[in-house]
Amino acid sequence: MPIRHFLSTQDWSRSELDALLQQAAAFKRNKLGRDLAGKSIALLFFNPSLRTRTSFELGASQLGGHAIVLQPGKDAWPIEFDVGTVMDGDAEEHIAEVARVLSRYVDLIGVRAFPKFLDWAADREDRVIRGFAEYATVPVINMETITHPCQELAHVLALQEHFGSADLRGRKYVLTWTYHPKPLNTAVANSALQIATRFGMDVTLLCPTPDYIIDPRYMDFAKQNVAENGGSLRISHNVEDAYRGAHVVYAKSWGALPYFGRWEQEKPIRDKYKNFIVDEAKMALTDNAVFSHCLPLRRNVKATDAVMDSPACIAIDEAENRLHVQKVIMATLANPS
Ligand code: CP
Repeated sequence: MPIRHFLSTQDWSRSELDALLQQAAAFKRNKLGRDLAGKSIALLFFNPSLRTRTSFELGASQLGGHAIVLQPGKDAWPIEFDVGTVMDGDAEEHIAEVARVLSRYVDLIGVRAFPKFLDWAADREDRVIRGFAEYATVPVINMETITHPCQELAHVLALQEHFGSADLRGRKYVLTWTYHPKPLNTAVANSALQIATRFGMDVTLLCPTPDYIIDPRYMDFAKQNVAENGGSLRISHNVEDAYRGAHVVYAKSWGALPYFGRWEQEKPIRDKYKNFIVDEAKMALTDNAVFSHCLPLRRNVKATDAVMDSPACIAIDEAENRLHVQKVIMATLANPS
C-alpha cells in the first residue's frame, strides 16, 4: 500500500478533511488519548518556530507518543538534496540516507523548510519535503514549506467555531496582503486561497499590485476548488472594495514572486503600501467580519493593537487549533486503516 503523507490538503478529499476537522474538535474537548502510544515522530526544523514546534511536541505527548526535534545544520548534520552531486560542499549526508535512517527509528517525519528566497523557480519545486517524501518509508507531514496545510485546518476549524457551523459556504472571505519590512514566504497565502475555496467561500485576494498575485499553481488549485465546491474567486487591488461586506479578513504578508532574489528592487514597491495594515477603519467596512492571522504578527505593522485586541480577532483560537488538528493528522497517519 502506498504511504499516505500530509503534504497538501489538495491531496485529501473534502470528506477526509471534514473527518479530520470533526476529530480535531473531539480532541479539543478531550485532550488526552493513546493514539500514538509507542509511536514517535521526528520533527525537522530548517527554520524557526514557536507554535509548530510546541504544538507538535505537546500533541505527540498528549497522545502517548514521543517527539524528537532536529535542526539540520545546527544540531544535526547539514543535508544534501541534489541527486548525483559530488558532495564537496557543506552537506555531510544525503537525503537518501537521512530519510531512510529516520524511517527505521520513527513512525512519522515532520518537515519545516521555507524557500531560500533566491529563485522562485527552484523554491517552487519544494525539494526538501519532496526529498523526504521520496526516500522515507514512513508518512511525512508538512510543517510549512511553500504551503502550510496544518495552518489551513486550524484556520478552518476556528472559522467553523466562530460561525457555529461546519458549512462556510456564502461567507465573503478576504485574504489581504499586508506590509512587512521583509519579504516573507507565500506559503500561508497559497494555503489560505486553497482552503477558503475548498470550503466554498466567496474569496477575494487583495494585494497592492499584480506582482503580488500568488503562483499560478495555487491560483489554479483555487479555481479548480471553486469549480468543484461552488463559491467564487476574484483578485482586487482596491482596499475599500475588497473589505466592504466581508465576513472574514485573513491577513498575511508575502514577497512578490517576480522579485525573488532581487529584493532590493521590490522594497520601494512594498514600502509604498504600508496603508495595507488591518485597522479599525477597514474592519468597519466589513459585515462584522472576523479577523485572523497565522502568527507571528508584528503589531501596528500588519494589524493594529485595536484589531488584535478586539473580539473580532480569532488568531489565538486558530493558534490553539494547531494542536488539535495536528494530533488528528499524526494519529491518522500513524494508524492507517
Ligand atoms: N503559524 C506558525 O506556523 O507559527 P510558527 O512559525 O511559530 O510555528
